[in-house]
Amino acid sequence: MKGLVAIALVSAFTLAAHATLSFTNTITGQPLDLSEAMEEGRDTEAVKKFLSAGVNPYLENKTCLPKAKDLFLSMCSGCHGHYGEGKIGPGLNDAYWTYPKNMTDQGLFETIFGGAQGQMGPMYGALNLDEMLLVMAWVRHIYKDDPNEAVWLSPAQRAAFKPFDDKEDHTPPLDQAPVCKVSATSAAGLR
Ligand code: HEC
Repeated sequence: MKGLVAIALVSAFTLAAHATLSFTNTITGQPLDLSEAMEEGRDTEAVKKFLSAGVNPYLENKTCLPKAKDLFLSMCSGCHGHYGEGKIGPGLNDAYWTYPKNMTDQGLFETIFGGAQGQMGPMYGALNLDEMLLVMAWVRHIYKDDPNEAVWLSPAQRAAFKPFDDKEDHTPPLDQAPVCKVSATSAAGLR
């Protein structure tokens, strides 16, 4: 009987097929309804991996960072600053978080999908799930503080991570960028 109920639930929400984690709103703690996500971008390798394991395969993925940056500049920098240094919204490039859960990629996703207070509205109507993971990868890439506090990186990624310096940003413009690809190793998660 329990099994049947579980099957009914899984088929009721196509997305729930991938979502073994449960996601909650950063302010209210209520469950997020992932079925509100846009149709497009729901089923990419990266999204499947993220929803099942909480690992973002776009982290430090060189081929995808140009797209990630482009999305951040159009959707986030107006409030958070060009390189996430803070403007009307808080800085996103340092080790201080108003909501400590944003130190994890699951928490950061929840804040982007469901929003926080005031001007930080939910993004599910503006970005699809795949784009949210890309934006998250850019937020992590512009981190300028101690890599040892970058708990969102795997140990191997942390060892290789250089704190971001905007004068050293050589991210190619989107029209000169390589094809954004999730490799087998990043899809498997490096943790
Ligand atoms: C219209 C302005 C606006 C836009 C656009 C916006 N934000 Fe925000 N954001 C804010 C404000 C204001 C806060 C502070 C809200 C709070 O403290 O609850 C915030 C808070 C946050 C936080 C929590 C930071 C912390 O210290 O815990 C994150 C993460 C975040 N925004 C990410 C993003 C990302 C990523 C985007 C683009 C997809 C984005 N925001 C777009 C205004 C904005």
